[in-house]
Amino acid sequence: MAGPFPFLWEKGGTSPVKELFGKLADGTEIHRWSLENGGTRLKVLSYGGIVQSLETPDRDGRYANVSLGFDTVEDYVTGSPYFGALIGRYGNRIGAGRFTLDGETYELSVNDGANSLHGGADGFDRAVWDVEPFTDGPDVGLYLSRTSADGEMGYPGTLAVKVAYTLTERGEWRIDYEATTDRATVVNLTNHVYWNLAGEGGGSVHEHRLTLAASRFTPVDAGLIPTGEPAEVAGTPFDFRRAKAIGADIRENDQQLLYAKGFDHNWVLDKGGTTEPEWAATLTDPSSGRTLRISTTEPGLQFYSGNFLDGTLVGSSGKIYRQGDALCLETQHFPDSPNQPTYPSTVLRPGETYRSATVHAFE
Ligand code: BGC
Repeated sequence: MAGPFPFLWEKGGTSPVKELFGKLADGTEIHRWSLENGGTRLKVLSYGGIVQSLETPDRDGRYANVSLGFDTVEDYVTGSPYFGALIGRYGNRIGAGRFTLDGETYELSVNDGANSLHGGADGFDRAVWDVEPFTDGPDVGLYLSRTSADGEMGYPGTLAVKVAYTLTERGEWRIDYEATTDRATVVNLTNHVYWNLAGEGGGSVHEHRLTLAASRFTPVDAGLIPTGEPAEVAGTPFDFRRAKAIGADIRENDQQLLYAKGFDHNWVLDKGGTTEPEWAATLTDPSSGRTLRISTTEPGLQFYSGNFLDGTLVGSSGKIYRQGDALCLETQHFPDSPNQPTYPSTVLRPGETYRSATVHAFE
């Protein structure tokens, strides 16, 4: 709205704008929603709840998209390693794609060697979501919802899922997840943005500095399934309790780094699971001056250093993505929890509501 004081009018959130982004092979229309608030610009697809672009200013006020992604629906359908997507019904791996609950064994869709990864072959990242815009006082956002059928990808129970993506007046991107079921099941929802705070296509993130509020992590076997007991990070390349460059220790001759081709592990957050989001991680890019601060209610965080990007994908700015060109910080319950009785439970029963929240603050 133009007025005598345009700067005042232009502050605050803009109502989400919807446009046609493309179509699936069967003709289903995929929409893109654009919203802006507090200096952050977000573009979200109805396909996979994908964050297609997230722009923030650098220290000189120049905007850049700090998340990896594509320009077309086809690219997301055919070649995406979960860029920006909502992940469910179970984020990360379930060993041998199998778990037993209340005496019944469930066989899941296996899509990562012998294991099930990120909900199976057709996880929530490949579903078309219902999207509704909202404004809430000074905040703007989108509700994304879908119902996952009983038996989808092998999981028991009809799961009704509602996710809110909110841009706050401070420019934070907040995610609130909610789910209910009609039969006992397991749930572990997350988002899979690949961050490059220098801007998507800006090269390696090995100079980014990361701090993780975690004294322990869960070591894995060759299939990246946790072996059980968490281990102390002290004295290992996994110690990010003080800000450290991603690349500082990534070439250490360490069996855990060899298994994952870098970092691809779950850190056990010192705060544990909480009702309100509490600080979990800070990522800083010295070149642009951008900082991302993550708070979550979740007890764990998967730090994945983009190890499997291999130069075969061309991103939205036309640059190819190579190993280490981005990193993921996925808030979560621990991998393989359904088979690990000592881990915080991921079981959801009828009458209960699954809730999880993560806040991404930018400076
Ligand atoms: C996993 C990686 C996997 C990647 C898929 C991450 O969450 O931990 O092992 O390769 O997702 O792109």
